[in-house]
Amino acid sequence: MRLQFFTFLFFFTLFHRQISASTTTTLVNVTVDDQFGDPHTHSQIIYTPAEAWSIAPNCSHCPDGISSLSPSRASNGTWHGSYFSSETASGAIRAGAPRYAELQFTGNAIYVICIIPPSTNITNRLNFSIDGTEVGSYPPAPAIATDLGGWQYGVVVYHNTSIPMASHQLLIQSGEEDGPDAIILLDSIVYST
Ligand SMILES: *[C@@H]1O[C@H](CO)[C@@H](O)[C@H](O)[C@H]1NC(C)=O
Ligand SMILES: *[C@@H]1O[C@H](CO)[C@@H](O)[C@H](O)[C@H]1NC(C)=O
Ligand SMILES: *[C@@H]1O[C@H](CO)[C@@H](O)[C@H](O)[C@H]1NC(C)=O
Ligand SMILES: *[C@@H]1O[C@H](CO)[C@@H](O)[C@H](O)[C@H]1NC(C)=O
Ligand SMILES: *[C@@H]1O[C@H](CO)[C@@H](O)[C@H](O)[C@H]1NC(C)=O
Ligand SMILES: *[C@@H]1O[C@H](CO)[C@@H](O)[C@H](O)[C@H]1NC(C)=O
Repeated sequence: MRLQFFTFLFFFTLFHRQISASTTTTLVNVTVDDQFGDPHTHSQIIYTPAEAWSIAPNCSHCPDGISSLSPSRASNGTWHGSYFSSETASGAIRAGAPRYAELQFTGNAIYVICIIPPSTNITNRLNFSIDGTEVGSYPPAPAIATDLGGWQYGVVVYHNTSIPMASHQLLIQSGEEDGPDAIILLDSIVYST
């Protein structure tokens, strides 16, 4: 009788724990590579204007030293890059057209990971919007020319851990009409779901 009771208790506890486990939400981070996209939903990052973006290590008109970047230090060995200039004379592809990278994701946190040039003097002003509302920029404050001593890999240029759990659109902008030169090297986007 005692044994039966303990057997019952054991299975009851086990059952109860399984129920609790299945109702507790577990968050996981999903890495969306710039080139290979979302491994779960298979959606891709959309780049516009498409012809102004290139895949590592190519980067038309990017500053000297970009060829020294090591693909092995980037997520999946790739990044998407674009050099923006308002000046047609710069030779930049689609001069004056801001560069955009857009991702649809379902989650409640987001991290944008870029490779950053050795000097903040090479403007890398990025703007971030979620669902059409501007939510941040990089650098967060107006940049003072700082020598970082080399290219920086895996820099989280924007993160937001207080997004309502739902489907969202993230839009990254580099360069603005009549604005200064800008460079973006997007490595990956991580979201929690
Ligand atoms: C997702 O990654 C970020 C940045 O590395 C980390 O701070 C966070 O704890 C991770 N979240 C989960 C659910 O693993
Ligand atoms: C880089 O550019 C070269 C020359 O235009 C081209 O042959 C090559 O396919 C490009 N590589 C990538 C990864 O786009
Ligand atoms: C990208 O990298 C991740 C983590 O290292 C790996 O699991 C995945 O298979 C890679 N994807 C491709 C397409 O190489
Ligand atoms: C940064 O850019 C400004 C304006 O183009 C220039 O005058 C200055 O010499 C630059 N500084 C460095 C450290 O490159
Ligand atoms: C995070 O995203 C939410 C919802 O889109 C927004 O209201 C909030 O301002 C963002 N916070 C930061 C720190 O970017
Ligand atoms: C990007 O953000 C900065 C700082 O908030 C702002 O001055 C600039 O106008 C923004 N650019 C665009 C194109 O929204």
